[in-house]
Amino acid sequence: MIGRLNHVAIAVPDLAAASKLYRDTLGAKVSAPVDQPDHGVITVFIKLPNTKIELLHPLGANSPIANFLAKNPAGGIHHVCYEVKDIYAARDKLKTDGLRVLGDGEPKIGAHGKPVLFLHPKDFNGVLVEIEQA
Ligand code: CO
Repeated sequence: MIGRLNHVAIAVPDLAAASKLYRDTLGAKVSAPVDQPDHGVITVFIKLPNTKIELLHPLGANSPIANFLAKNPAGGIHHVCYEVKDIYAARDKLKTDGLRVLGDGEPKIGAHGKPVLFLHPKDFNGVLVEIEQA
């Protein structure tokens, strides 16, 4: 079921500083910041040869990453995203095996315009897992 690592998402307190670090020091291809009002975040995409890094910064008062940054003021890895071929088949298999799908269990369109679901971190060794149909 599991395919490629699509991205690792890192919550950052200072988007400009983090973008500069990846662009100027590490020499990566770094996108401009993109507001994602549906998700309560501003994203910066960093293309690496084999995967992507997604920098996340809170947008608006009810950002889902505000709590995370309050607990991790220096920033930190927020989630990893694995690709699946069929998100409904993946969801059904996960649920059959007793794993918790967050929200109402229906895929939402993620920051890359593709259907995604999030899985409970307590079922994945403390890591919030996103699956994306890609
Ligand atoms: Co993601």
